[in-house]
Amino acid sequence: MQSKSLHGMWSNRWTFILAATGSAVGLGNIWKFPYIAGENGGGAFVLIYLMCIALIGIPIMIAEVLLGKRGRQNPVNAVKSIALENSARTGWMHIGSMGIVAGVLIMSFYSVVAGWALHYFVTTASGDYAGINGEQAGEVFGGLLASPKILFTWHSIFSFMTFAVVAGGVSKGLGSVARIMMPFLLASLVVLLGYGVFAGEFMASVRFLFGFDFSALSVDAVLIALGHAFFTLSLGMGAIMAYGAYMPAKACLGRTVITVGLLDTVIALMAGLAIFPIVFASPGIEPSSGPGLLFVSLPVAFGNMALGGLFGTLFFALVSVAAWSSSVSLIEPGVAWLIENKKWRRVTASACVTFVAWAIGILSVLSFNVLADFKPVWLLSFTPFDFFAFLTAQVLLPLGGVLIAIFVAWVLPRKVFDEELSSLSEGFRTWLFFILRYISPLLVVMVMTLKLYETFFS
Ligand code: PFF
Ligand code: NA
Repeated sequence: MQSKSLHGMWSNRWTFILAATGSAVGLGNIWKFPYIAGENGGGAFVLIYLMCIALIGIPIMIAEVLLGKRGRQNPVNAVKSIALENSARTGWMHIGSMGIVAGVLIMSFYSVVAGWALHYFVTTASGDYAGINGEQAGEVFGGLLASPKILFTWHSIFSFMTFAVVAGGVSKGLGSVARIMMPFLLASLVVLLGYGVFAGEFMASVRFLFGFDFSALSVDAVLIALGHAFFTLSLGMGAIMAYGAYMPAKACLGRTVITVGLLDTVIALMAGLAIFPIVFASPGIEPSSGPGLLFVSLPVAFGNMALGGLFGTLFFALVSVAAWSSSVSLIEPGVAWLIENKKWRRVTASACVTFVAWAIGILSVLSFNVLADFKPVWLLSFTPFDFFAFLTAQVLLPLGGVLIAIFVAWVLPRKVFDEELSSLSEGFRTWLFFILRYISPLLVVMVMTLKLYETFFS
């Protein structure tokens, strides 16, 4: 087994934490979490989501990083070589192939939404939102969605930005971004929270997010919460496995992963607590407004606070950078595979993978205008944008995650797990292995079965 990766290594444990956090913290936290919490009635949904993070997300994340760290190659080869070494079937490597596909599909629509953030960065900087109210902010966002040209332009710019970083390589390109962004992002969420306390309906949003009303909960909501646990932790598709491959051999895997998971969760909750006070204080905005929630609520805050133009510009810049450090990890598995298995140059591989995602992304650009009513049965009556979001977060990632859990906790000998997690206490390790072996896969399979049952038999 190689002890070093072909693409260079992180300089220490903290670089891994920063890069993994860079991958995890992104639009999932700031854009998606608040809007799906809003659509699914708040409290009970948030509780289910937190349980999914603790019982499914973190254990599977440990398993996934473990595979990367042990395999030291792209997800396909990592799993394959570990399987060979332990005389298991090499077919398990298709966890990696499926992940590469999932990453490209996520990238296709992720980049469109990141494009919205770039657009808001520029328009906030030019003072477009001064004195705006909720209704007007809704109209502005509607106007953006109605323009395929603007959406396409930003989608293309963001795709190119991602290509540029991935083409530059891991050690040069990825490590440094998160280090600078993360403290700023946290600080600006704190400022927004403060604004919510003084100018918005802060207590109403605490009640909304943490008051547990189970009557609003459906099978769909549970699957959405589960899928989001995978999406937000960058889990189930090899992204975090690819990063694990660059992890120093002596770094403590368990603690490192838990740190990343906690940071991701804290940032999502802070984003929710920052956004809902504005939502509840603005007559024109509903918690259930959908994908536009972030982009209609925050301009209202920025448009009416002192120095809002400046602060809003900084904030949307941070959101864009957070999305950027995530998108890089979406295409890295595919790029690493092309380099290692097809001997492509990094630049060519990055260009090719980004191009495929960009091209598919055009369907998502059109989902908000030209194709808004295109919801064919073979896309399960979703628009392409909603379909790709559903297929990845609620099908491919949980599936990949379960396979990872089964591979690590059932197929591989127990000693692999123990060796890689030797710095954890014996008791904690046993407990973790139990969760990974029984609880996590069972919960995922149960939720997915319920959903299938509901779809086809009721
Ligand atoms: N975790 C990212 C977010 O929350 O925005 C999205 C993501 C990145 C998902 C990388 C999957 C992935 F492999
Ligand atoms: Na996230």
